[in-house]
Amino acid sequence: MRQAGRYLPEYRALRSEDEFFTVCRTPDLAAEATLQPIRRFDLDAAIIFSDILVVPQAMGLDVRMERGRGPVFPQPLQGPDDLRRLIRPDVNESLGYVFDAITLVRRELNGRVPLIGFCGAPWTLMAYMIEGGGSKTFARAKTWLYTLPAESHRLLEAITDVLLTYLDGQIRAGAQAIQVFDSWAGYLGPVEFNMFALPYLRRIAAHLRENHPEVPTIVFAKGAHYAMEELAESGFNVIGLDWTMDPRVVRDIVGDRVALQGNLDPCVLYADPDTIRTEVLRMLSNFGPLGHIANLGHGMHPDHDPEHARAFIDAVHELSVEVAQ
Ligand code: CP3
Repeated sequence: MRQAGRYLPEYRALRSEDEFFTVCRTPDLAAEATLQPIRRFDLDAAIIFSDILVVPQAMGLDVRMERGRGPVFPQPLQGPDDLRRLIRPDVNESLGYVFDAITLVRRELNGRVPLIGFCGAPWTLMAYMIEGGGSKTFARAKTWLYTLPAESHRLLEAITDVLLTYLDGQIRAGAQAIQVFDSWAGYLGPVEFNMFALPYLRRIAAHLRENHPEVPTIVFAKGAHYAMEELAESGFNVIGLDWTMDPRVVRDIVGDRVALQGNLDPCVLYADPDTIRTEVLRMLSNFGPLGHIANLGHGMHPDHDPEHARAFIDAVHELSVEVAQ
């Protein structure tokens, strides 16, 4: 959840020297950005510093990170003819820098905490590739679903093919768990989710189970409150929840088939440390003591106070002991 985001002064210092994707592509810098939050806080895991959009880049699309605007594709996919612009990359060649960063981080962590690898889910990546950036509605990408279903499936299939090799490479390089971010699942309804998102998530989960049964897998489908039953059956080990979901309701649906992750509203971190503690206690009680990975329900904001992140982490450690008793 963007642990290494712009709220850390040491990250801003690292970033002031280089463009965002240059940091991603330079294993020494990516390793440093990964380790910064681990040095500062008592975290229980690290997540490799990269971005979900390195995969569309590897498939031939230009992506830039613009200050104040976020990710921008100067030439997004405008119609089915543009699918010809996509390449099937040699993943070791075009994304080998991620694998190198993972191996470097594992060496430097030296067993202190496990390292999580990740990718964007096919639907979320498709949404960016067509929309060309963030959006309030994702109307262009959704237009494809309703008017070009066959081409949408071709695109989703092509993205998934790349993701499978990409995740294999991350695990081979040393990633010890995999999280798949379907950040824009909430723009779909249940019918569209079942048609255009779920089959590809299932394919990823099945591939990982078959080829890397020892690696735990997490799916974070933001806003997909309608899909808890489907996600519990999708083959992932953990479902990440955003803060709009009540963990007690979700637990009733999923039973003990999966662990749950989440889900503190990142905006709670704007409150004072006492309030953060109260909200953490409420969260931990609602999830219950078993099968819960405490986390935020989405990413940190650039203007969060690092000391409030510390209050969150410390409260989780202290109060989870109490809740378990
Ligand atoms: O916690 C970490 O730092 C781990 C690495 C990580 C990043 N992005 C680094 C990053 C991870 C896991 C991501 C995933 C990611 N990237 C997602 C899925 C998670 C989610 O938030 O739903 C998405 C949708 C993206 C695309 C993306 N990248 C967005 C929307 C933004 C924010 C742009 C903005 O200006 O608000 C980014 C940028 C980004 N990715 C930053 C970091 C540390 C900040 C970039 C900077 O330095 O300017």
